[in-house]
Amino acid sequence: MALTGVLRPGHVQIRVLDLDEAVAFYTQILGLVETGRDASGRVYLKACDERDHHSVILRKADRAGTDFYGFKVLNARTLDLLETDLRAYGVQTERVRAGDLLETGERVRFHAPTGHLFELYAEKTEIGDTLGYLNPDVIIEDRKGISPVRLDHWQIHGEDLDGSRDLFVNVLGFSLTERILCEDGKTDMAVWLTCSNKAHDIAFVRDARSDTSHHAAFLIETWKKLLYAADLMAKRRVSIDIGPLRHGITRGTSIYFFDPSGNRIETFCGGYSFYPDMKPYTWTWEEMGAAIFYHTRELNERFLSVVT
Ligand SMILES: [Fe+2]
Repeated sequence: MALTGVLRPGHVQIRVLDLDEAVAFYTQILGLVETGRDASGRVYLKACDERDHHSVILRKADRAGTDFYGFKVLNARTLDLLETDLRAYGVQTERVRAGDLLETGERVRFHAPTGHLFELYAEKTEIGDTLGYLNPDVIIEDRKGISPVRLDHWQIHGEDLDGSRDLFVNVLGFSLTERILCEDGKTDMAVWLTCSNKAHDIAFVRDARSDTSHHAAFLIETWKKLLYAADLMAKRRVSIDIGPLRHGITRGTSIYFFDPSGNRIETFCGGYSFYPDMKPYTWTWEEMGAAIFYHTRELNERFLSVVT
């Protein structure tokens, strides 16, 4: 099946307490590239191998957290169709004008049952990854810091997990790849969903703290580069939550850490390829530790308690 419909996590607007400090962190340590600033003071950034204008928007605010999560869809017709499908499902949608975000076309916004504000968009100016399209080289030069290749996925928390799961599966065309069951052995505690052939593009966790973010994740190319990221975080005194580590779920490797405002970020590497004919993996309540942290098989308190 060709990849159509919703393509991938395209951008996220993150609230930061001190804009200058945040920009220094996101460019010098995480290693994203600044691509613009708008009239309201928001700062736009992209990862080195992303071709569209931006994937992260930083907004100065008085509390940390995430304003909205944007998925890129195939084209304008797909955007119209998904908007129609959302409305038919009973979801209120709103159009945001083109240009409200720099270099970005019209966006269709809606709130998911877990309280999060999502948006779909089809158009964003392509600025490339410096390699060009004719006989491209393979090395992107002048990379700074950790330098992930792209925005990868989000883990977000909310009470009505079932509602958001069903909306993403039934309307937006996502597939369930993995789930952790609650103690009752029936209810979903957490679900991993993909709109592509990645092991996940988004994860929802059942949590009374609706509309909260656990982390935004960025893709690292190799385990060796992930270890370098951990070394750099230690050298620069970045607040590391936990890692480097291996996930049972997705089989990816990972580090969780915090930006200066307290937003958790993940550097993620690996994960299996998913195809829509594959059955989801199920993890039981008793094995939740191994599902998340495969080696130590137990969760740390900060990982469970801190969301923004
Ligand atoms: Fe993650």
